[in-house]
Amino acid sequence: MVEDALTQSTFPPTEDFAAQANAQADLYSQASEDRLEFWAEQARRLDWDTPFTETLDWSGAPVARWFADGTLNACDNAVDRHVREGRGDRVAFHFEGEPGDTRTVTYADMQREVSKAANGLESLGITKGDRVAIYLPQIPEAVVAMLACARVGAVHSVVFGGFSAESLRQRIDDARAKLVITADGGNRRGAHLALKPLVDAALAPSDANPTPAGSVEHVLTVKRTGQDTAWEEGRDVWWHDVVDPASEQHQPVMVEAEHPLFILYTSGTTGKPKGLFHTTGGYLTGASYSHRVVFDIKPETDVYWCSADVGWITGHSYIVYGPMINGATQVLYEGVPNAPHEGRWWEIIEKYKVTIFYTAPTAIRTFMKWGEAIPAKFDLSSLRLLGSVGEPINPAAWLWYRRVIGSDRCPIVDTWWQTETGSIMMSPLPGVTETKPGSTQVPLPGVSIEVVDDEGQPVGVEEGGYLVASEPWPSMLRGIWGDPERYQETYWDRFPGKYFAGDGAKRDADGDIWLLGRVDDVMNVSGHRLSTTEIENALVSHPWVAEAAVVGAADETTGQAVVAFVVVKSDGAGAVASGHEVAVALREQVRKEIGALAKPRTILVVSEVPKTRSGKIMRRLLRDVAEHRHVGDVTTLADSSVMDAISQGLESGK
Ligand code: WT7
Repeated sequence: MVEDALTQSTFPPTEDFAAQANAQADLYSQASEDRLEFWAEQARRLDWDTPFTETLDWSGAPVARWFADGTLNACDNAVDRHVREGRGDRVAFHFEGEPGDTRTVTYADMQREVSKAANGLESLGITKGDRVAIYLPQIPEAVVAMLACARVGAVHSVVFGGFSAESLRQRIDDARAKLVITADGGNRRGAHLALKPLVDAALAPSDANPTPAGSVEHVLTVKRTGQDTAWEEGRDVWWHDVVDPASEQHQPVMVEAEHPLFILYTSGTTGKPKGLFHTTGGYLTGASYSHRVVFDIKPETDVYWCSADVGWITGHSYIVYGPMINGATQVLYEGVPNAPHEGRWWEIIEKYKVTIFYTAPTAIRTFMKWGEAIPAKFDLSSLRLLGSVGEPINPAAWLWYRRVIGSDRCPIVDTWWQTETGSIMMSPLPGVTETKPGSTQVPLPGVSIEVVDDEGQPVGVEEGGYLVASEPWPSMLRGIWGDPERYQETYWDRFPGKYFAGDGAKRDADGDIWLLGRVDDVMNVSGHRLSTTEIENALVSHPWVAEAAVVGAADETTGQAVVAFVVVKSDGAGAVASGHEVAVALREQVRKEIGALAKPRTILVVSEVPKTRSGKIMRRLLRDVAEHRHVGDVTTLADSSVMDAISQGLESGK
């Protein structure tokens, strides 16, 4: 299919949708008339214990202070407020476990649960400012654990359950977490996926870390699967022993607006993940505002489902904080889309009459592959709005999503943002914007985005450039935990005064923005952010490997795929292993060091990795090889015969 032709169609909002939409066109003019007052107005929708009087203090740039003299509590806003204002009986979550177990949790239930959990945390010595690592499956306790931390003023650091013990250890150490909240295991495709043993391994001394993780005092474990679990008396405690019997009364601890709410680790261009942190007042303002205007939430009638995992920023902002502050009724699903059958998601939409659905392009492309006969078996007529996030959505997938899932009726919001931005920065507004397949189009009211060239000047129509935010926004990250210099260097040194997102972009003749992918050594695989350097480090830590170079190559389903070029040591056991044996061993190595999500799709054993004369790996060339393109200019290569050898090796299928 010729994608260019597809992008020529646009879809104006229907009159019906426009008439009832939360966001009307005048939101843009309101925001541009007085940007700061506009944000202050959004912030005033939260419940403040002490109202703020100052909107933005940018004198310490690039560290912003928003609403700094106000105090509030995130959990109070997400939970107690609804009960206080008479919405306690509303369902907060329809939980659907992968094995088919279900739970309905109202806002009043939530208040009891988070209060008990907060008392439990305090009984384990957790107080304001302490860091708590959360390593849980997608179950209600994950939401409760996050909110309970917020309730006592502790800083949560959620680690996605797919990360390895080694990655978990790194994150625990970096944040000096005092407590780890985990489960015995979770459910994945009918099997039990162990979690607690990985926590045990993370906390135990290892080759890489000869000392036990010193900061951790307790491991609080939820019983989910009932599988056998090793137990360290004194350190390990069960959730049902600590939380269940605790009091249902708990007074939320009010914190300053700039008190850290959470740390979330994400991959950067170096081997070490960055502990991005967000604070309370500004983050909650951005998450709840964007959720209201982009997803058009009508909390009395909508059933909203974001298919992300709470372990990622999407889950933080668009399962936990944004929707709950807005009092939404949500679906929370533990498992994968194809267990026990490939229609599971559509079955869930039919069952709970989901009206708003938010997912990732990689999932949509997978469903396209499985065929439209599968969703056709289910009643999806409850849907009224669809969202996409995580990576560029190609027009063919966008159109399929609209036609097959949205019955040619539901508007699609393609939302661009990042762990760093905390909330959606660019997206059409449903009911206002005429949508365009493949483009994230326009910044949200209140957000300032530019596409600039190397000199920081705005680019012309259809010219590629760098995406920057030219004004601070409330939910922006406040830094990298413990590393202010890296924060400055990574985001602010490239274009002084402007936030550098790391994405390439262009503007079309209508002024709409198109994302062109990362411009740094960060890959995007199935909407997950991976660092080439981190995977290279994992590969070279294997005794067989002398050198490794990793690139993200275009992949039809996952957007990008990890392709590794490795040079095997000539004097080791790897030298006599077959290419297949090397690939199996190295995939396992990456799984162990980082997690299954980072495993290379393709591993190629090569005799040399192409480098510039200054010794830099030429990833662009390797990407060309990995994508089977004609290899471009190699004149700056130290030894240009290397490329010939690699391409020949590929062609002969070696
Ligand atoms: C990177 C951020 C934000 C939640 C999920 C990922 C890419 C994200 C889009 C989109 C094109 C997108 C960018 C960005 N990205 N959404 N709608 N269109 N690209 O969060 O792990 O922090 O990754 O994901 O490259 O920089 P993240």
